[in-house]
Amino acid sequence: MKIAIVEGDGIGHEVIPVARDVLAAVRPEYEFFQVEVGFGRWERTGHAITEDDIALLATADSILFGAVTTPPFPDYKSVVLQIRKALDLYANVRPVSGKGVDLVIVRENTEGLYSGIETIEPDRATTLRVITRRGAERIARYACGIARERRHLTVGHKANVLKSDVFFRDICLHEAGIAGVPYKECFIDALCLDVLRRPDAYDVIVTTNLFGDILSDVAAYLVGGLGMLPSANIGDHHALFEPVHGSAPDIAGQDRANPIAAIRSAALLLRHIGECSAAELVEAAITETLSSGVRTRDIGGTAGTKAFGQTVIRMLGKMHRSMP
Ligand code: NAD
Ligand code: IPM
Ligand code: MN
Repeated sequence: MKIAIVEGDGIGHEVIPVARDVLAAVRPEYEFFQVEVGFGRWERTGHAITEDDIALLATADSILFGAVTTPPFPDYKSVVLQIRKALDLYANVRPVSGKGVDLVIVRENTEGLYSGIETIEPDRATTLRVITRRGAERIARYACGIARERRHLTVGHKANVLKSDVFFRDICLHEAGIAGVPYKECFIDALCLDVLRRPDAYDVIVTTNLFGDILSDVAAYLVGGLGMLPSANIGDHHALFEPVHGSAPDIAGQDRANPIAAIRSAALLLRHIGECSAAELVEAAITETLSSGVRTRDIGGTAGTKAFGQTVIRMLGKMHRSMP
């Protein structure tokens, strides 16, 4: 199994080595190769990512990705968005679990307001929100596939205002009907509040690209913040796993970042390639570490990133030895 390791920028350099060590601890036979992309690379070379990097990433069986800094320069294109588009990673799956909460946000990942069709003129700027039938159908089907194994589906949209969301909503509800999945719908603004007030009223939530981006940061509040949330970016031919958080420049280089989101992303990677028992072992080692009182500062502890990672690996060793 060939796994591409992309640390990226900021705390990506701290949390990804931990997640890679966890993967290597449960699957020592995996082959890892590093790919350097991001803002640091841009500062050094003038290129944040090249065609060759994308071609290299495409050779991996799976990609473990940290986070990249995306400065709001008019000509700077987000590295992670380029990868998602180039590898056609259309489903961004963001499980939100812990503290009695268990829901999954399924975010369309290739179009919507992230179409990249934009102009800045002297007195006006525009971004085109594109929802295609193909894009909406495939994300709706993906979400229905997850919902069928769970409980029900909620379609998050703003169809009261956006015609493109009338289109998205209709397709999602149609697909849910075909799949026989119980469904409801909710305006995205109301949903952002209600998911905090009544998380148990939701199970699988499907929504468009930017709404899913915002909703997942909102929902992170339920489970201890951004340091906790992993994600899977899935396409028909490639898959990339990354924390939901960014490069966190405010805490980068201080051994303060919570690596749980990155380690859980590694667990999602294992699950995606069919290594479910290894994934469960990793998830259990995180739970054991937290129960033993070891936690990073964002979730009320004092442990550093490295110390947390070492404890998870020690727990893995213990659990592995105690397995029949
Ligand atoms: P951020 O997610 O990096 O940080 C938001 C807040 O959460 C910060 O206070 C940070 O310290 C905290 N935080 C995030 N992850 C944490 C962790 N693992 N442990 C403890 N605290 C954590 O978002 P931002 O500050 O808005 O963005 C910073 C940069 O990251 C921007 O350039 C942005 O574009 C980029 N970004 C990249 C990705 C990605 O590569 N996938 C995702 C989001 C943001
Ligand atoms: C995320 C991030 C990215 C997004 C940015 C950095 C391009 O916020 O993965 O949640 O908006 O998708
Ligand atoms: Mn985001």
